[in-house]
This record gives sequence, structure tokens and C-alpha cells, in this order.
Amino acid sequence: MNRIDQIIISFENTFFKPYLGNVPSPYSEKEKSMLPRKSKKIAADLMRVNHSGEVAAQALYLGQIIATDDPNTKTKLKDAAKEELEHLKWCSVRLAELEDKPSLLSPLWFLGCLSLGYFVGKFGDEYSFSFLAETESQVAHHIKDHLEKLPKEDHISKNILNKMLEDEISHRDNAYQSSNKDLPQSLKNLMRFGGHCLRQLSLRI
Ligand SMILES: [Fe+2]
Ligand SMILES: [Fe+2]
Repeated sequence: MNRIDQIIISFENTFFKPYLGNVPSPYSEKEKSMLPRKSKKIAADLMRVNHSGEVAAQALYLGQIIATDDPNTKTKLKDAAKEELEHLKWCSVRLAELEDKPSLLSPLWFLGCLSLGYFVGKFGDEYSFSFLAETESQVAHHIKDHLEKLPKEDHISKNILNKMLEDEISHRDNAYQSSNKDLPQSLKNLMRFGGHCLRQLSLRI
């Protein structure tokens, strides 16, 4: 499959398939949307941010996949990206259950992260895996923060985030095993700033 086809398929998976047929999340329970209005709004805002993060993850992985020529690296990245697609579906379904919508800026996150993933990937697989490990580490940190901020009665979102956290930590550890190159602190700070912008904007738009 050529690169353009891969981008089109990933774009479809990211923006259309998670909404098709209103697939129930494995974490949905009978108590669906029984949250008080205020808690529902807090949960929806947080899950919108997580949804944006998963859109970004799809695009970053895709950028890195098409940038590498090594089949082994491609397989490792594709395996993790499959789990990220599950995260995206769960966040989409949960957002709909909370009667909210994804960030209007989602296409921007996708295009920005696709370019970033490709750019980083072109520096070589070692660098790409180190970047991935740092990204997953920052994502895990942010999910822990959201787990504390979610209303205590929203067990469904908590279950989703707990499973996502488990997967992100495993992605981070797998990436560290593939490369132990240390990234410059300035790049790590820049990544943190990018993540901060994505979260703040997705909370509002
Ligand atoms: Fe994820
Ligand atoms: Fe991940």
C-alpha cells in the first residue's frame, strides 16, 4: 500500500469509523449517562481532550510508520497504533454517551501530528522510538491527572482511562526497549508545550 493510501485509510479510521453504527464501548454499563449535569460536563470536557490526544496518536504513529523503511519497525508501530485506534473508539463512544462532540480542531491535530511524526521518523528509527517513548510517558502522566479530575461517580470514563493508561505505559516501555537514546531536554519541553496547547484548546473548542 502506498503512502497516500495509508494516509487516506488512517484519516477515515480516525474521523469516520469510530462513529459508525454507534458501536458500544466495552466499558459502557447500564448506568449510561446517569451523571448529574455538572459532573457530565466535567467528564465530557476531559474526554474531549482525551479524544484529541488519541487523534494525535493516530497521526503521529502513521507519520512514523510511513517515514521508516524497516519492516520490523513498521510492525512494532502498527501493533501499538491498533491499540490507539481502540482508545480512539472508546473515547468517541464515551463522548457521545456524555452528549458531547469531539474538538472542532481535530483535523488540525491530525495534520500537525502527521507532519511531526514523519519529520521525527526521518531522523532514524532510534530517534523515532525515543520520541515515542517520551510522548507515551507524557501521555501517561496526563491520563493520571485526568483520572484524579474525573467526577468520582463516572466509573465508565475511569475504566476507559485506566485501560488506556495501562496500554500507554506498555507502549512507552516497548519503545524504550527499542531505543535508549536520550532526547534533548529542549525537545522534551517543546513536546510538553505542544501537549499543553492541545489540551487547553480541546477543552474549549
Ligand atoms: Fe492512546
Ligand atoms: Fe500509546
